[in-house]
Amino acid sequence: MGELFRRFWVPACLSEEIPGADCTPARVKLMAEDLIAFRDSDGNPGLIDAYCPHRGAPMFFGRNEECGLRCVYHGWKFDVNGVCTELPNSPEGETYKDKVTIKAYPAFDAAGMIWAYLGPKDKMPPKPAFDWMDFGPDQTYVRKYHLRCNFFQAIEGDYDPSHAVFLHTTRDLNVPGAIENAAPALGALLGNKSFLRMKYVAFDDTDYGMLQVAVTPEADGTQTVSASQFYMPCFSSAGIAGAGVFSSNMRIPIDDESCYMYRFRWSYEPFVQKQVEEDKYGNFTFPEQIPGSFMAVENKDNEYLIDRVAQKNYSYSGIKSFPIQDLALVEDQWGPRADRSLEHLVTSDEPIMHVRRRLLNAARELMEGQEPAGPHNPEGFRVHTARLSIAGDLSTAEAIEQVKKQTLGPVSPIKVHAS
Ligand code: FES
Ligand SMILES: [Fe+2]
Repeated sequence: MGELFRRFWVPACLSEEIPGADCTPARVKLMAEDLIAFRDSDGNPGLIDAYCPHRGAPMFFGRNEECGLRCVYHGWKFDVNGVCTELPNSPEGETYKDKVTIKAYPAFDAAGMIWAYLGPKDKMPPKPAFDWMDFGPDQTYVRKYHLRCNFFQAIEGDYDPSHAVFLHTTRDLNVPGAIENAAPALGALLGNKSFLRMKYVAFDDTDYGMLQVAVTPEADGTQTVSASQFYMPCFSSAGIAGAGVFSSNMRIPIDDESCYMYRFRWSYEPFVQKQVEEDKYGNFTFPEQIPGSFMAVENKDNEYLIDRVAQKNYSYSGIKSFPIQDLALVEDQWGPRADRSLEHLVTSDEPIMHVRRRLLNAARELMEGQEPAGPHNPEGFRVHTARLSIAGDLSTAEAIEQVKKQTLGPVSPIKVHAS
């Protein structure tokens, strides 16, 4: 699976972690490799080995100067491409420097993230052409969280439609009018159980990953047809957002038992002020973090600050914000790396089974020598969520075709699930 990941461009850190030319380097751990991100004097991002090839000293303490990071142990200096530009502590340095390199991975800035490619040089694909790749900060917003579980446990929550009406429900039954004014999720829990009516009609394997289409019959006789995606190797289109705003969750392995989640919002239009305020200061869809870290304030060490009184009277879980509710449940599924032989899967786990199969098949094919097609078809990544309401006379097959067309270009987003 690690080899498969190394065929794709993935976020390595936030752009703001290395905020400008010659800035302080940042520690990055990715796919079990210790790395250092920095920006040279021209502002170009670099991602290099955390250890100096001379005698293994930490490059983190390096001097970032004149287009290179210099190891402060004996002064060897490397540029963003890993070329040794100076080897000043020994007479053979002038020629020996041409024989020494530090491991360096290609990297670029886009949408507030530093993207890196950690695979074989001759297999390097073009940049993925997500619609938002070139959008500026008025149309994109991202925050990074440190999760203490395997990346796939975090992904599964985005393909788990039945959990939202339980885990994410609030129910302040003591407030007059609470039931009438409640969030749709509450209505589902108490009565109409829309997730039980939702039927998946298509799981299409695509170059970029997987398209899923669900049909939900509504009480008024219409049907809602919705399309959402899994993008290889670890991106989803799930998440709540305001009108005209799309979501993506990206889970990048740090190692087998931890990952970074990049929680991302984007829009074809500049964000409205309300969206910006909620994202940056609301602390609900983007939970507050411990300053100087990527750890949420509510985390495993403090039982996610579960409030048992709230749980009895108000909130289904007793845990405050939606994303933290998810974390509490996924960071510990028989531990940080779930033993899936212990599971008892049911029909509502069908989307998860499909995503698992898509990834496992791709990993197996790669082991057999077949390269994944997705990274080399970058335009394929352009698709996004779409939703369509249809009246009785349109056949399901026709509706699926229509909603698929709407996954390209600006249309209104859907809420796949609430995390
Ligand atoms: S260990 Fe880095 S220059 Fe010697
Ligand atoms: Fe969730």
